Amino acid sequence: MELYVDTANIEHIRYAATLGCITGVTTNPSLLAKEDPSIDVRQRILEIHELIGGHLSVEVISTVTKGMLKEAEEIISWFPQATIKIPIIPDGLSAVKELSKRGIPTNVTLIFTPTQALAANNAGATYVSIFMGRLDDISQNSSDVLNDICEIWDVQECESKIIAASIRHPLHIIEAAKAGADIATIPYKVLMQSLKNPLTDSGLEQFLSDYDKMQTERQKILNI
Ligand code: E4P
Repeated sequence: MELYVDTANIEHIRYAATLGCITGVTTNPSLLAKEDPSIDVRQRILEIHELIGGHLSVEVISTVTKGMLKEAEEIISWFPQATIKIPIIPDGLSAVKELSKRGIPTNVTLIFTPTQALAANNAGATYVSIFMGRLDDISQNSSDVLNDICEIWDVQECESKIIAASIRHPLHIIEAAKAGADIATIPYKVLMQSLKNPLTDSGLEQFLSDYDKMQTERQKILNI
C-alpha cells in the first residue's frame, strides 16, 4: 500500500518528502484554507509538485460539470501530471466521465458507501477516496465499509485505485492495508505518530550507550 501525505503545508511536505516512504500528496479546499489565507493557490500547488514529484490531487471548487471541466483544464495547464479531485455528486460523475475520455486522471472524493465507489469506478475514476474518520465520526464502522468496497473490487475486478482517506490515527492505516486499499493518504501528524515507538527510542539509546561504553573500555585497554 502506497502512502501519501494529506496536507497543503509546505514545511510538512518538504520533510515528508525526505522520508523516502511517501509517493504523493492529496489536498482539498479545507487543507489549503488552513494555510496562510494570502497564499496563491497555483503557486502553492506548483511548490508541492516540485517537492513531491509523484501523485498530487488538486480539488475543484465548482459543483457543476462545465465549471469542473474548466477548472480541470486550468489545473492541468499548471502541470500536466495533476490528478483532478472531484466530489461524488451527479455533476461530478459526468465530469469524471469526460476527463477519463480525455485521459486526465481523477480522484473521486467524499465517498462513504460502496454504491458511491462503484458509480465513480464505472464513470472512469482513476482513484476513489473513502473517508474513514468521517464515517467513524457518525458511528459507522469505516473498516466494514472499506472491507466491503475492497471485496467488491476483487469480485468485480474494478479498476479505480482505492485511497483510504480521512485517516485519523495509525490504526486506520493498518485497517486500510489489511483491507487491501492501494493507498492511504495520511495527515502529517498521524504519519509521524505511525513511525514512532517508545521501544525504538529506548532501544536506540541503549545501543548508543553500549557502544560508547565499549569505546571507553577499549581506550583504557589499549592505553590511548
Ligand atoms: C483526502 O483526500 C481528504 O480530503 C481528507 O483525507 C479528508 O480528511 P478529513 O476528514 O480529516 O478532513
